[in-house]
Amino acid sequence: MKTVLVTGGCGFMGSHFIRLLGRQGSWRVVNLDKLTYAGDPERLQDIQNDARYQFVRGDIGDRQLVHELFEHERPWAVVNFAAESHVDRSILDPGPFLQTNVVGTEVLLEAAHAYRVDRFVQISTDEVYGDTEGREPSLEDSPLRASSPYAASKAAADLICLAYRRTYDMPVLIVRSSNNYGPFQFPEKLIPLIIRNSLKNQELPVYGDGGQRRDWLHVDDSARGFLDVLRGGRPGEIYNVGTGSLRTNIEIVREICALLAPRGGLGLDGLLSRVRYVDDRPGHDRCYEMDSQKIRKELGWTPEVTLGAGLELTVQWYIDHQHWLEHVVSGEYQAYYDAVYARTWQKK
Ligand code: NAD
Ligand code: DAU
Repeated sequence: MKTVLVTGGCGFMGSHFIRLLGRQGSWRVVNLDKLTYAGDPERLQDIQNDARYQFVRGDIGDRQLVHELFEHERPWAVVNFAAESHVDRSILDPGPFLQTNVVGTEVLLEAAHAYRVDRFVQISTDEVYGDTEGREPSLEDSPLRASSPYAASKAAADLICLAYRRTYDMPVLIVRSSNNYGPFQFPEKLIPLIIRNSLKNQELPVYGDGGQRRDWLHVDDSARGFLDVLRGGRPGEIYNVGTGSLRTNIEIVREICALLAPRGGLGLDGLLSRVRYVDDRPGHDRCYEMDSQKIRKELGWTPEVTLGAGLELTVQWYIDHQHWLEHVVSGEYQAYYDAVYARTWQKK
C-alpha cells in the first residue's frame, strides 16, 4: 500500500483531500500539520481511528523532523497543502507566510529529493497570476504577478518547486486552484464569515465596492482535481483548477442572505441591511480568472457541484455545525477580527 504524506491535512482543503484518499481505499496517509490557528483535528474526527491514517504534529519548516519523518515513513508521494493561507493576515504580518510557504516548501522538497519520492504535488493558487481584470484568463504559462505578501509567497513556492524540477529532475507537479468553499472552512474567509455573522445578527463587511470577482469552487471538486493530478498528472507540469464561472463578492453575499432569510427572524431585507461597505483591502485584486482546459482535456476533470447547490449545502452545513464555528473562533479570532476590520493594518 502506497504512503502519501499530506501536509496541512488538519486545514480546510487538506482534510477534505485526506477523506477523499481514504474513500479510495488503496492509500496510507500520514498527515503532518503544525496545528496553527487554522488547523483543527476535529475536521478528521471520523477517520482518526482508521489504521491507514496517521497524524503527526509538526512544522514543515523543521528540517530535522521532516527528514526523520521521511526516513521512517518513506512516502511514495507528498501533497503539500500546509501554508499560511489568508491574504488579510499576510497584510498584517508577512513573516510567517515567507517562513511556512517558502522555506517550509523548500524543506519538504529537499527531503523529497533525498528520499526519492515518486511525486511531489504542490497546492498553489490562482492568486500567483495577479489581477486578471482587463486581461485574458490566465494559462499555466502566464506570467506571475503576485499582489499580496500571501500571493508572493505562493509564487515563490511555485518557483522553488520548478527549480527543483529543472535542477534535480524532481517529479514535481503544481495545481493552481481558484477560491474554495464548503464545510469546515475557517470563518476568516468570505463565505463562512458572512454566514456566521448573519447567524449572529452582526454586520456583513464587504470590501470596497464589492464588485471584485472570484471563481468559487466547491472543496469536493478541488479535492478530486488534486487526486487526478496526483494519479495521472505529468511531472513538471502545472494544472489550473477552476469552474470558469465568476461572481462578484456582493452577489455571493446576497445569495447567502437569500438562503438564510427563510430560516431566521430578520428576513431578506433585514439581513441585507446588515451589509457594511468597509475600506478596501490594500492591493486588492479585482479579478482572478483562469483557463482550466488543460486539466479537463488531459485528466478528464470537471467540476460537479454548481454554485447554487454548493452554497445551499454549505449554508445548511454551517447552520447544523454552529458548535464547530464557535469552537474555532474561541482562540485568537476576535483579536484578529478587530485588527482587520479596524482597517488600519497595524500589527498588534
Ligand atoms: P487552511 O488555512 O485552512 O489550512 C492550512 C493548514 O496548514 C492548517 O491545518 C495549518 O495548521 C497547517 N499549517 C500551517 N503552517 C504549517 C506549518 N508550518 N507546518 C505544518 N502545517 C502547517 O488552508 P486551506 O484554505 O485549506 O488551503 C490549503 C492550501 O491550498 C494552501 O496551500 C493554500 O495556499 C492553497 N489554496 C487555498 C485556496 C482557498 O480558497 N482556501 C485556494 C487555492 C489554493
Ligand atoms: O483565489 C484563491 C485564494 O482564495 C486562496 O489562495 C487563498 O488561500 C484564500 O484565502 C482565498 O483568498 P481570497 O482573498 O480571495 O479569500 P477571502 O475569502 O479572504 O476573500 C474573498 C473575497 O471577498 C475577496 O475579494 C475579499 C472579499 N472579502 C473578504 C472578507 C473576509 C470581503 O469583501 N469581506 C470580507 O469580510
